[in-house]
Amino acid sequence: MSTNLQEQFEKLYGKAAEKTFFCPGRVNLIGEHIDYNGGQVMPCAISMGTTLLISKNDDNVFRFHAADFPETADIELKDSYTKTGTEWYNYPLGVIHEFLLKGIKLSGLNMLFSGNLPIGSGLSSSASIEVLTAYALNEMFSAGMDRVALALLGKRVENGFMGLNSGIMDQFAVANGKENHAILLNCDTLDFEYLPFEIGDYVLGVINTNKPRKLVESKYNERFAECMDAKAKLQQKLNINHLCDVSLDEFNANKDLIGNEVVEKRAYHVITENQRVKDARVALTSGDIKKFGELMYASHDSLQHDYEVSGIELDTIVDFCKTFDGCMGARMTGAGFGGCAIALIHKDKFDEFAQKIVPYYEERIGYKPGVFSSVIAEGVRKLV
Ligand code: GLA
Repeated sequence: MSTNLQEQFEKLYGKAAEKTFFCPGRVNLIGEHIDYNGGQVMPCAISMGTTLLISKNDDNVFRFHAADFPETADIELKDSYTKTGTEWYNYPLGVIHEFLLKGIKLSGLNMLFSGNLPIGSGLSSSASIEVLTAYALNEMFSAGMDRVALALLGKRVENGFMGLNSGIMDQFAVANGKENHAILLNCDTLDFEYLPFEIGDYVLGVINTNKPRKLVESKYNERFAECMDAKAKLQQKLNINHLCDVSLDEFNANKDLIGNEVVEKRAYHVITENQRVKDARVALTSGDIKKFGELMYASHDSLQHDYEVSGIELDTIVDFCKTFDGCMGARMTGAGFGGCAIALIHKDKFDEFAQKIVPYYEERIGYKPGVFSSVIAEGVRKLV
């Protein structure tokens, strides 16, 4: 953490911060758009994320400042809140709201946030700020919640306060991340397992489309609704709680119940993606990077054609990866419609990859992508 932030805090609030916390962002290796369908996903926390400097105050006011955003707010302590506008501080305000709903007594707070996750890049800057605030409040007010409870609280903020019907994956990943490990999470039971992320001579590349964020929330909620529709139709005959409880054979035998070609394609993605995650677990634990890479390409293909959440920008990146000797697999990661793709790239070829993909993408899309390699890091934690 930079001393610059400490100085900025002191300048704003007249005193040094009592505590400093950090929460990472995440990438999802495989298992996309199945967390809200009771499936298994394989995310991991990354080294970039959000920092919070925080102190209690005696004025019963929550003061929100961010190093990277001009909007600030001073909000008086009340019993509850609702989202106001679209400013960034709605996320921590939603967390405060959830703590108050749980009957946890709070006092005013002076806060300074700072992040280095590209916003709207699909690396979960929102889960990062939610879990960061929840972790900090949990410590500051001795609320006694564990990491899973904090992740669930963050999800309630996203669903109830912010209005996005997202699943638990992002909050869970940034709360429970472990250095050099992927998390295999069962989103139905929340059972999870750490898988050593051993990819030999390969590195995990992240390619940011840099596409301006548009319509992600409404499209996301549309997909959620389509999945709930498919599930309800299949429940007429099948005894299932989630779409991911359906096997491919059962799906093929009963898909006519769905009665809508588009919704059928969405369900097909969900069911096949869940199987790919299971196969990816086997590939990763047995060191079969080639198979893991093939599953990544297959996942992207399904997200592109059946779930239709990719886009020309992400597809251009994955197309390039397929032709690049030294790339084992690639796919979009996160909600899609822009954001980032991930790729397994041979470490000796990474520089060449980065050099070549930029003009390839720029020629077709009109602006440059961002390219970096990512480190798999620990989840939310106290820094100072
Ligand atoms: C977003 C959501 C997650 C998950 C992914 C798609 O990141 O927040 O819950 O649904 O999209 O896999």
